[in-house]
Amino acid sequence: MVEVVGTSLGNRAILGETVRADFPILVDRPAGEPLVYLDNAATAQKPQRVLDALVDHYRRDNANVGRGYYRLSHRATDVYEQARATVQSALNAEHLDEIVFVPGTTAALNLLADTFGRAVVGQGDQVVVTGMEHNSNLLPWRRLCAVVGADLVTVPAGPDGRLGVADFAAALGPRTRLAAVTHVSNVLGTVNPVRELTAAAHRLDVPVVVDGAQAVPHRPVDVRDLGADFYCFSGHKAYGPLGIGVLYGRRDLLHELPPYQVGGGTVKGVSATGPVAYVPAPARLEAGTPHVAGAVALAAALDYLAGLGWDDIRAHDEVLVRTAVEAVADVPGARVIGDPAADPSGIVSFVLDGIHPYDVGGHLDAHGVAVRSGVHCANTFVDTFDVVGTVRLSFGVYNTVEEIDLVHRALRTARPGLWTREHPTKRFL
Ligand code: ALA
Repeated sequence: MVEVVGTSLGNRAILGETVRADFPILVDRPAGEPLVYLDNAATAQKPQRVLDALVDHYRRDNANVGRGYYRLSHRATDVYEQARATVQSALNAEHLDEIVFVPGTTAALNLLADTFGRAVVGQGDQVVVTGMEHNSNLLPWRRLCAVVGADLVTVPAGPDGRLGVADFAAALGPRTRLAAVTHVSNVLGTVNPVRELTAAAHRLDVPVVVDGAQAVPHRPVDVRDLGADFYCFSGHKAYGPLGIGVLYGRRDLLHELPPYQVGGGTVKGVSATGPVAYVPAPARLEAGTPHVAGAVALAAALDYLAGLGWDDIRAHDEVLVRTAVEAVADVPGARVIGDPAADPSGIVSFVLDGIHPYDVGGHLDAHGVAVRSGVHCANTFVDTFDVVGTVRLSFGVYNTVEEIDLVHRALRTARPGLWTREHPTKRFL
């Protein structure tokens, strides 16, 4: 077994085995299908209590929300609003109406680009992004700039995958109308100094949109302390269900947004010919029937995370990331990209010399290990490292040092396969 580095960490109990029993998919494995699940940055597995919350909602409380004058509809509305309050408290947002339920991070960022972006960015203006953005926090801004005739300014990360605050500040100028940054890189796990970035932006009155998809499962997020004007995340990466996510917006900004989609739930009044009167946010931004069960189960997931304790989650991530870095370094021809141990956030990305990342992914799968390999929907960032892609280990609360040991042994037997021989420069995902 790879020894855990760092004397202060070596003896710390980590979550792993103690919480594993909470996750049916990890416990009830079909015979012959072991699962070492290390693709948590793509989506996390769900604890029983989240599954229960989802099913119980449909069993007990299901009705449409905010639309019915009967008790069941009132109850459904209540549990939906309670879920909103749980999110508000998890993010330390000042007001309940700053929390909008959306399908996920991508939906939130598109909503912002098409409403806030359209309102504040015009011809000749600038939008600043970092060079480490996921396509979901890049393409909406790129399209916005193309449509309105603005310039997209990219602040590159250094060779260590870290973003310089001074570089970011230098990219801001009198034409900058907004900045969009990721809190934690989905490729390398790099944690950006969001508080410093927002402070630099606010000195020029530039609002900042933060993609928190990879942060929320790993660290307590305080949107006020971070100075985020908008912050979004997906439920499914935080042990909640698929199809539900959150957009937080500072009240004064959020309430200025026009509806993104129009329809049921967004209006105060509609007449055949007169103007349409819209309700305020958040309902104004939640057109149609919301994913109520998803919101309720997301709240259960956030409660679950808080119950595990952030100190233990951080300690757990630290042990796993440092162990994985050491394990990968021990594999001939392997190279870790970036510096994931600097501020561990559950991700370690690496390459194996002369072996295509998809061949490595397939080899690990044959050992029962699920990882993501390729460009991780962050093509432009991965390209800066001059590699075809990386292999990404991304950890959840149920992963163990023993699982990393298994990965370590499997990697030592990885060999070039079809992708390496026939499509060495191809990649899709
Ligand atoms: N954004 C997810 C990932 O990084 C899907 O894998």
